[in-house]
Amino acid sequence: MTTEKPQLVTNGKRVDGRGLDELRPIKIEAGILKNADGSAYLEWGSNKIMVGVYGPREAFPKHVQDPERAIVKCRYAMAPFSSLEEHGRSGPNRRAVEISKVTKEVFENVILLERFPGCEIDIFIEVLQSDGGTRAAGITAAAVALASSGIPMRDIPYAVSVGKDGENLLLDLNKLEDNTSDADMPIAIAPRNNDVLLLQMDGTLTKDEFARGVSMALKAGEHIVALQRAAIGSKYRKE
Ligand code: CDP
Repeated sequence: MTTEKPQLVTNGKRVDGRGLDELRPIKIEAGILKNADGSAYLEWGSNKIMVGVYGPREAFPKHVQDPERAIVKCRYAMAPFSSLEEHGRSGPNRRAVEISKVTKEVFENVILLERFPGCEIDIFIEVLQSDGGTRAAGITAAAVALASSGIPMRDIPYAVSVGKDGENLLLDLNKLEDNTSDADMPIAIAPRNNDVLLLQMDGTLTKDEFARGVSMALKAGEHIVALQRAAIGSKYRKE
């Protein structure tokens, strides 16, 4: 079945009225789950994501323990009601396993794991409603949940995606744009020194588009980081 590609940009405006380098509205709240050591709830456009963090606690089963450092476990899951597409029937699918893996690797690079030998840190990312960019939104929320748990980190990462439609680079693709654009590049950054912690690419970008895309992500990062810090700050002010 072939479906016609929708027009994603008309007179410099996107299907949801945004400019090319405009983020969707983002709201982040830290410390909302009573039983987790750290937590965050994030709304990013129509994405709704809850993150719970546990640990550091003794790694289980024992054979997974690393005597030198803590291990990170991460589970990204989409609730069965989170989109119109079919999923959630029989546990994690291939996509969820991939997103869990790349997210785990982001946090392995910023948590001070060597301080907690033999322990594990668990990150549970539950996508309650999805509309494109959930891996970026999940990483952004998980960073806030980890920081709110007090787990020591070198930095608080954020993530966002950049895509391309024809000549146009687009910041923060929604699902329609994600599914029909020519390229989609999620990127996670440690803002203190702009280390890239995740970079994936669906489609292709030229060298110049890649460089411009990274600049767009870094600029958007200033706003995302401010929201993350405000969420963490207001959690501590409430306590
Ligand atoms: O969410 P993200 O952009 O990181 O991942 P994706 O694999 O590029 O998926 C894009 C979007 O498609 C998701 O955010 C969901 O809205 C939707 N999707 C879905 O509804 N069901 C799936 N099994 C996979 C994706």
